[in-house]
Amino acid sequence: MNQESPKPSAVLNGQTAVVTGGSSGIGAGIARALGEAGANVVVNYSGSRERAEEVVARIREQGSQAVAVQADVSSESDVEAMFRQAVEIFGTVDILISNAGVQQDAAFTEMTLDEWNKVISINLTGAFLCARAATREFLRRGMVPGRSSALGKIIFVSSVHEIIPWSGRVNYAASKGGLMLFMKSIAQELGAKGIRVNSIAPGAIRTPINRESWDDPEAKAELLKLIPRNRIGDSSDIGKAALWLASDESDYVHGTSLVVDGGMTLYPGFISAG
Ligand code: BGC
Repeated sequence: MNQESPKPSAVLNGQTAVVTGGSSGIGAGIARALGEAGANVVVNYSGSRERAEEVVARIREQGSQAVAVQADVSSESDVEAMFRQAVEIFGTVDILISNAGVQQDAAFTEMTLDEWNKVISINLTGAFLCARAATREFLRRGMVPGRSSALGKIIFVSSVHEIIPWSGRVNYAASKGGLMLFMKSIAQELGAKGIRVNSIAPGAIRTPINRESWDDPEAKAELLKLIPRNRIGDSSDIGKAALWLASDESDYVHGTSLVVDGGMTLYPGFISAG
């Protein structure tokens, strides 16, 4: 009998993924998608262990291994400890999903230095610390025959706001714009070593971070005007994109932001104007 290629649902068998901010929202959607595809998943959280344990339980029900690990991604020692723990438990790390992110909205003239620093340190410095730790582990471990065509995969969860300026959230837009060139620069530096680096740029996905934009019917109607596809995204929409970027199916995709936004970046204001 011919040897069959692995089921699409098991394309990440034997690989280990660290998902930062994996206890809720987009991170939880990605953690579940990777677990369903056979990956061992480190579900990172900063606050609620309980929610992280729920995600872990869901992944275990799907037949994969998972563990919840607390770490503040903006802390170098926390990040180093999290990767050490991941390696102790699963032997190595093959995939980093750098997803942890926050918003601290304020009018520009009212924005405090703390609000600026918090967003930059979690969204951008956190991405740096996690990507550096993951890269060091990929290089230490080396290629494992038959596991993946890449030495490692790094996927940043960015935002449409790496492209779309955002009044009242200049800290957030600056963090995501910075993340875009950080991603491309390390992609340029690491490609020859076999490490694939990409981002996903989600639009409006129904998560706690933007609850006020979809919870209230009027706000939701305004939001939908910005989305040609006419629906708010689900974290599973991002989970599917992350699974593809983490798998060898996307082997030639490198240094790219995959926009998953229902058309939000199509300047929908021009549908009936301009
Ligand atoms: C933000 C959300 C927002 C979406 C679209 C995301 O990056 O975190 O609050 O709804 O972009 O504007």
